[in-house]
Amino acid sequence: MIVRNEQQMKSMREAAQVAATVLDRMCELVTPGLNTYDLDQAGRRFIEELGGESACYKYQVGSRIYPAFTCLSVNDEVVHGIGSLDRALGEGDIISVDVCTRYNGYIGDNCRTVGVGRLDPEMQRLLDVTEESMYEGIKAARVGNRVGKVSSAVQRVVEKAGFSVIRDFVGHGVGRSLHEEPQIPNFGKPGNGPKLREGAVVCIEPMVNMGRYQVKMAKDGWTALSSDGSPSAHFEHTVIITKDGPEILSVPLGKEAPALV
Ligand code: MF3
Ligand code: CO
Repeated sequence: MIVRNEQQMKSMREAAQVAATVLDRMCELVTPGLNTYDLDQAGRRFIEELGGESACYKYQVGSRIYPAFTCLSVNDEVVHGIGSLDRALGEGDIISVDVCTRYNGYIGDNCRTVGVGRLDPEMQRLLDVTEESMYEGIKAARVGNRVGKVSSAVQRVVEKAGFSVIRDFVGHGVGRSLHEEPQIPNFGKPGNGPKLREGAVVCIEPMVNMGRYQVKMAKDGWTALSSDGSPSAHFEHTVIITKDGPEILSVPLGKEAPALV
């Protein structure tokens, strides 16, 4: 687990602000009829305008190279969906907009699931519960707590609501690389995992299925879908652990961080 000094903290705050500003602008564009390719291209332009670069584009896992600039996952898609001209958003859909960018050498990573037009109440509840579970996880990210404290806080909120947390993807430390130590699962026991240290920067990102937690891989080799076809939501913030508590870094330029109450 890497800990950051003041200078590095400042750089990471700036990087996360870029990612958050792009996410905000993209979410404002979500409307019925928009296709996910155009949304991804809008993300590409926003990232460029802000002087950053996509940390997803050309991201390599084994022999697979990610082809898009942001990750856009619709309905039963859990994570790493690829924008497509064939995929027009429809009223009542949900879309997870996941933006990770590099700026001045540091990565910011954040995600939000939004509704397209009016949502079915159960879909809205899925979004609300997933977001709430992220904030409960963030509040547990305090110096001296083990990672499992974050994991169990997330899991408790999700399962109390009757939904399930994905096991196959986890949150992570972040810095010069997108995925650093420690891994932050969204399930587990409070006493498990490493102790969180002052100055650590982590991405807390519950992925929640309305139905069962199992996922399957699409033919494109990237998109993860819920196995049972149920809708899936994903919220993520980049957070620094200070001696005074967690501080959300992924805050759009000109906006205030959400209160942690
Ligand atoms: N925010 C995503 C993650 O942490 C970004 C993945 S980049 C991709 O997994 F190339 F794998 F899509
Ligand atoms: Co992430």
